[in-house]
Amino acid sequence: MMKRKRIKQLLDNPATGEDVLVKGWVRTRRGNKNISFIALNDGSTINNIQVVAENSAFDESLLREITTGACLAVSGKLVESQGQGQNVEINASSIEIYGKCDAETYPLQKKGHSMEFLREHAHLRFRTNTFGAVFRIRHAMAYAIHKYFNDRGFYYLHTPIITGSDAEGAGEMFHVTTLDLKNPPLTETGEVDYSRDFFGKVTNLTVSGQLEGELGALSLGEIYTFGPTFRAENSNTPRHLAEFWMIEPEMAFYDLEDNMNLAEDFVKYLITYALENCSDDLGFLNNMIDKGLLERLKFVVANDFVRITYTEAVSILTAASRKWEYPVGWGRDLQAEHERYLVEEHFKRPVILTDYPKEIKAFYMKQNDDGKTVRAMDVLFPGIGEIIGGSQREEDHDKLLNRINELNIPIKDLWWYLETRKFGTAPHSGFGLGFERLILFMTGMSNIRDVIPFPRTPKNAEF
Ligand code: 4AD
Ligand code: MG
Repeated sequence: MMKRKRIKQLLDNPATGEDVLVKGWVRTRRGNKNISFIALNDGSTINNIQVVAENSAFDESLLREITTGACLAVSGKLVESQGQGQNVEINASSIEIYGKCDAETYPLQKKGHSMEFLREHAHLRFRTNTFGAVFRIRHAMAYAIHKYFNDRGFYYLHTPIITGSDAEGAGEMFHVTTLDLKNPPLTETGEVDYSRDFFGKVTNLTVSGQLEGELGALSLGEIYTFGPTFRAENSNTPRHLAEFWMIEPEMAFYDLEDNMNLAEDFVKYLITYALENCSDDLGFLNNMIDKGLLERLKFVVANDFVRITYTEAVSILTAASRKWEYPVGWGRDLQAEHERYLVEEHFKRPVILTDYPKEIKAFYMKQNDDGKTVRAMDVLFPGIGEIIGGSQREEDHDKLLNRINELNIPIKDLWWYLETRKFGTAPHSGFGLGFERLILFMTGMSNIRDVIPFPRTPKNAEF
């Protein structure tokens, strides 16, 4: 038995004259009554290998089953291609059909389906060039993230997915319970008795690994989390998922400036990694999905991010001759339209906004001396808006406790977090990069549902 070779291997290092075995799915088949040209893809690369079959050498019934989507094993000699479009091709000596694919009923028989159609066929959309490219890039980015941090002495810390604290306030949470919803145990006052639930208390899916990440950083130095997070907001936008992945580094002894430097270096590293390692897939997406993709990626790597305060941003937005859907004013949160104006029209490059009003940011952010703002940072990207949110953290126990009390956050949820500020507190900072928003930027795709294999959005968890 010959050993199967990946198509990528054959195309990257073509040893012509050798007998080879490949396995994959038919992308297209064309030809005439004497000869068939089969474009075969096995997922190892966006590129297909061309299989050439003399029809007379094969059963007619077998040839009939070589249709778009069918799965084949092909062996034959690797030869220099006579035709255009490829350097090498396989002269098939034997073809085995693993899986037929009925041309009448196969939903992806034709090319050029809309993204909506493909989303409804998310179980099959992996078979398209576009989704193959997107998910190979997604993989490469996950690998590069671990490599970046490992090379710099950060530890990968696994923070919990089920959490007993809902203090972060980053969004609505999904409850986790094993209670019988039809007949839950009740307390004497008639409320659901969560002390009889699985964990003996109310639990939820986490919205962020940050608070637990801080516990790690305040001993291990530099850590990062990289896991799924969950937000039960009913936001049906091309930028929001109910289940998304987040990368959250957390660093002892970093101030906001160090934090911004890390964020900028990190994102530039990831883009550079993709440009160097995913050129075939990026080239395809640049041709087919977004003609400005490569130029934009290179531009972001080559240029410094603008760094301004929230207050400066509000002045720019107020001065802009523009009708906003949402009003601009100091103290109001910025909306996507404002963020995109700053990035895409005013500065024309990524922008880091800092020092937001404390009212619109989380309780844990370090308070500035002005009493009004906190050491927050949001990184805003062209076409995306907010891609990173982070801050320097409040390390002073009493200031943190005051803020918790001002916001009426129950101490019983946060006593363990506060203890880090009691026992050997340290200045520290961190941020969260939305993985899917990064992949949106990296691929030029326009809807976040198309950069995660199985999107979870309101009323949608089919696949
Ligand atoms: O700004 P967020 O809410 O920050 C936090 O959760 C902090 N705890 C992070 C930290 O400091 N460790 O979320 C961080 C990033 C956003 O900038 C965005 O890229 C992404 O997560 N994000 C989402 N991505 C997809 N769908 C959603 N619903 C998202 N919400 C946030
Ligand atoms: Mg945010």
